[in-house]
Amino acid sequence: MTLSLAPMTTDWATEVARWRYPPPLDIYNPTDDTAGAMLDGNHLAILEDGELVGFIGLGAESRVPGGPVARDDVTDVGVGIRPDRLSERFGTRAGELVLETLHMAGHTALRASVLASNERSMSLAVRLGFRETGAFLSSRDGARFVVLERELLS
Ligand SMILES: CC(C)(COP(=O)(O)OP(=O)(O)OC[C@H]1O[C@@H](n2cnc3c(N)ncnc32)[C@H](O)[C@@H]1OP(=O)(O)O)[C@@H](O)C(=O)NCCC(=O)NCCS
Repeated sequence: MTLSLAPMTTDWATEVARWRYPPPLDIYNPTDDTAGAMLDGNHLAILEDGELVGFIGLGAESRVPGGPVARDDVTDVGVGIRPDRLSERFGTRAGELVLETLHMAGHTALRASVLASNERSMSLAVRLGFRETGAFLSSRDGARFVVLERELLS
């Protein structure tokens, strides 16, 4: 089975907007703005043999209110895997592909803001070589987030 990345399309964005996660992951459920946000030019589809299994978000959409502001030398990243395909290592495999792809595209460092209680996401970031650089409380709902960063060495 081949995993690949592709620019987000309207059809895939519409699919993502229909995803529903079970509690406690339901905080990641799409909102009315999701389909449009997916088409901002900063989202990639994660495909397994051409089928949508997740997405990657870069830049503003991956930052959290109350968290670190944009910086020129670091790219904010976020990821979502299809709710019926969680814990099948798609996050890990796609993450490795994203590291390689962004490195080749000239990005020098990545940053992720991860909900502290999200064990899968914390494990994924650590597995991919990110290390904790800070923490903050979301100004949206007071939830605690951990900031993790990873350099992409040339
Ligand atoms: C977070 C997410 C991207 C991880 O992708 P995934 O394909 O489900 O995760 P993987 O199967 O690759 O596993 C990643 C790590 O989580 C661990 N994990 C898997 N299922 C888990 C569970 N139910 N509870 C705790 N840890 C779990 C794995 O063991 C692995 O850690 P390891 O490499 O140290 O063994 C995915 O679960 C997701 O989209 N969740 C909902 C949205 C979300 O949380 N987005 C992240 C926002 S920052």
